[in-house]
Order: sequence, then structure tokens, then C-alpha cells
Amino acid sequence: MSKLVVVSNRVGVPTRKSGVAAGGLAVALNDVLAERGGLWFGWSGKIGAPQSEATLVEHGKITYALCDLSNEDFGEYYNGFANRTLWPLLHYRLDLTEFARRDLAGYRRVNSYFADLLIKHIEPDDVIWIHDYHLIPLAEALRARGVNNRIGYFQHIPWPSPDIFLALPNHIEIGHALTACDLVGFQTERDAVNFGRYLVEELGAFARKDHVFSVAGRELRTGVYPVGIDRIGFARMAKRASRSRFVAEVANSLNGRPMLMGVDRLDYSKGLTQRLDAFERMLETAAEWRGHVTFLQITPKSRGDIPEYAAMQRALGETAGRINGRYGEANWTPIRYVNRSHTRLELAGLYRVAKVGVVTPLRDGMNLVAKEFVAAQDPEDPGVLVISRFAGAASVLDGALVVNPYDMDGTANALSQALAMPLEERRQRWQSMWDRLETTDIAGWAPRFLAALERVSHRRRPLW
Ligand code: UDP
Ligand code: G6P
Repeated sequence: MSKLVVVSNRVGVPTRKSGVAAGGLAVALNDVLAERGGLWFGWSGKIGAPQSEATLVEHGKITYALCDLSNEDFGEYYNGFANRTLWPLLHYRLDLTEFARRDLAGYRRVNSYFADLLIKHIEPDDVIWIHDYHLIPLAEALRARGVNNRIGYFQHIPWPSPDIFLALPNHIEIGHALTACDLVGFQTERDAVNFGRYLVEELGAFARKDHVFSVAGRELRTGVYPVGIDRIGFARMAKRASRSRFVAEVANSLNGRPMLMGVDRLDYSKGLTQRLDAFERMLETAAEWRGHVTFLQITPKSRGDIPEYAAMQRALGETAGRINGRYGEANWTPIRYVNRSHTRLELAGLYRVAKVGVVTPLRDGMNLVAKEFVAAQDPEDPGVLVISRFAGAASVLDGALVVNPYDMDGTANALSQALAMPLEERRQRWQSMWDRLETTDIAGWAPRFLAALERVSHRRRPLW
């Protein structure tokens, strides 16, 4: 019988204490696989000697197949090429993009290592679904080992315009590797168009029709599959969580002040210093809020071994400290800045207590926090979402106040407007976002992608 084989670097094995790891990919795939079952292959999250067999762990309908990375792999593949080269590049941050041949060698090596271990688990009818930028060369590595199964790839993060992508010295190798897939999916139409342009302009692909290309003698399909959440399940969870002791304690500690809230991994793509600067500007220009609002920023540490992330952590701590020092009073702290991660249950309850959700990345593939914030609201008295135009979710969440995170004054005005918004307008805006969330519900995401992958006819697939 055919099974679904999901492959990603980060694997969301739930732990009793903290649930699934923070990060949209792990959260989304966990929702998919918990429902339909399958094999989930990837990094164990541990450093250890290279393995000849993946370690299997059963959990509900999911079989996790996990392998350790050596210290060298962790440095060159994960901290190096994936997160110091591809991550900034694909988020349009050429100023932060580092390129080292050594890291590239590590990236290739780990993709081959994954392919070697993974093929032991693949049956002829299995469908293979690879996720995210860590594993761009994996499909090619599997084909080279004789795998002729259907292979799909989904890019959780943006795909920039060719102008940016061309800055990667080995862009042809990376771009071409994806042509070993049958279907390549993106979060937004913009990402798909950028990739299509790259195929045509740099790889000499021929666009046969929308989203169908002939390239290197093979057919490659692309598509747009925005990741969503289980909106009804999340809404229920938020209602339940809002009655928990933890959330009640937070709510009581506000002393009736409205709360603005942000939840983001500590990542420069999230626009965090710009966000706090905008909040400071609001306190500066709309003095009526001084002493009367609280900003809760939950920011679990992420990729802390990478210098740019460590620098970001210092900068953010300084910014929060400066603003609290400047505007705080003995009985009021403007910003509660928390570096710990929280369970989604805790977050759900907190979103419901918050009056304003602040999601202002400089660039983000989708951003599930924005969708979760909307789903968590009380329909009778909903909060307002302020979202960056550069988050994939902005195209779906039409009732949000859309800001340009580079525009500090504009963002400050939007925060103030959100805090003061009348109930009727809040309800209307929330209702339209709640309705739109249905169109990208997580229940439909995997079936839509997998159905499209299924439609790639065997005859048209490449002969390897
Ligand atoms: N998240 C979590 N605990 C935290 C912070 C975040 O469980 O302390 C979850 C959050 O609820 C969301 C995901 O991690 O589901 C973050 O996904 P998003 O798409 O917003 O950003 P990413 O981290 O993937 O860039
Ligand atoms: C984003 C990426 C994921 C990644 C997650 C957390 O959501 O798209 O691939 O898993 O961030 O980052 P981490 O480096 O901790 O896996």
C-alpha cells in the first residue's frame, strides 16, 4: 500500500512539556500527519555520529524516522548554507547573505546522507513530499539513487525575484535541483511567479501554460498552496485556554489595560526591532496611551549559534530596555519582552486576551501566528490584527490593518488606530478574516497539494 513520506529538516516530534517545536513548518506538518498518518523523516535535533539507519519512533499514526547530524554537518549545513546563505537570500536580505564553499559542501553532504537513509524506507508506490530550503537538492539525490516515485517539494519561505536569486554563486545548481521534482509548491502567487521567471530566464525552460514548464527534457509543475491552520480547532482551543489559570493571571496583571501582542521566533526576518521602535513612536506621538497599554512580545530564541541571530538578540534586548527605561513608571512597564517559547495552547489563550495582534515581518513566507490570532478572537468582541504587507498571510487576511514595517510612523499610527477601533468596525473586519481563513484551512492544504502531485501522469514524468 502506498504511504505518504514527508521529509523536512525540522521534525515536530511532540514532547509532553512543550508540544510541537515553534515554527510554522513543524506545526503545519504535524496537523497534516496526525490526521492521515505516514512516515516523517528528518533531523532528530541532536548532534551525534552519522547513522547508517534512521531511528524509528512511533507516535499515533506517525512513524518518525530520525537521524543525528555531526558537529560539522550542524555547522556547515544547518547554521551555514541553509541558514546563513539560503535563509537571508530567500528573504531578500543580500546584506546578510554569506557564501562559503565549505558550507555548500556540507549542504550537499547532508542531502546525500538523508537520501542514503531515506531510500531504505521508500516503497515503489509511496508519494514523497519534501519541505523547505534545507532540502532543495534532495529530490535530485533520490533520483540519482534510482527513485522514480512521485516527488513534490514545498517552499515554506519566500522565493525572491531572479534579481536576488542570481546573487547566489551556485544558483544554477540549486535552481536546477528542483527540476528533479514533479511538483514545486509555494505559499503565494508572487513566489511561484518569481520561480517561474527564474526557470525561463536562467534555465531555458519553456512555459507550456500557466504553472507548467518543460525544462531539461522533463515536465515540471508549480502551484500555489498557502499554508493555513485548523481555524475551528484553534478557536475552540483559544476559548478553553482563556479560562486557564495562566491566562487569567496574565489578564489580571494587565489591570484593565489593553494588550498588544507579538509572537515570533527571534529572527531578523520578523521585523522585531522595527516593531518595538514603532510602538515607541506611538507612545511618543499619541501620549494618551502612555501608562495605559501593555505590549507583550513573546520571542523564543532561534538559531542562536549564528552570529546574525546572536546580534539580533542583543539589539532587541537593548531596544526593549531602552523603551521601558524611557517610558516606564514604577507601576507600569510598556513592554513585556519574553524569550521563552510557549505552547500553542498558552498562545491561543493569550491571543484571545490581546486587543491587538502585531505581525510585522520584513518578509515572511506565510505567518501562521497572524492566522492563529484571528481564529482565537471572541467574535462578540474581537481584537484587531496589524499585519505587514510583506507577510504571505496579508493577501488572505483582508480585514487587517496593513502596514509597511519600514514606515515607523505609519506603523505607529496603525497601532494607535487598532487600539481605538470601534466595536462595530472590529466585528466587520474580524468576520471577513474569519471567513477567508476557511479558504486556506489546513485540512485542505495537503489534499490539494497531493492531488495535484497525483495528477502528474506517469507517462509525462521524467525517465531517470
Ligand atoms: N509557536 C509556538 N510557541 C512559541 C512561538 C511560536 O508554538 O513560543 C508556534 C506558533 O503558534 C506558530 C508557529 O510556531 O504556529 C510559528 O509559525 P509562523 O508561520 O508564524 O513563523 P515561523 O516560525 O514558521 O517563521
Ligand atoms: C521556518 C522555516 C522552517 C523552520 C522554522 C523554525 O518556519 O520555514 O523550515 O523549521 O522556521 O526554524 P528552525 O531553524 O528552528 O527549524
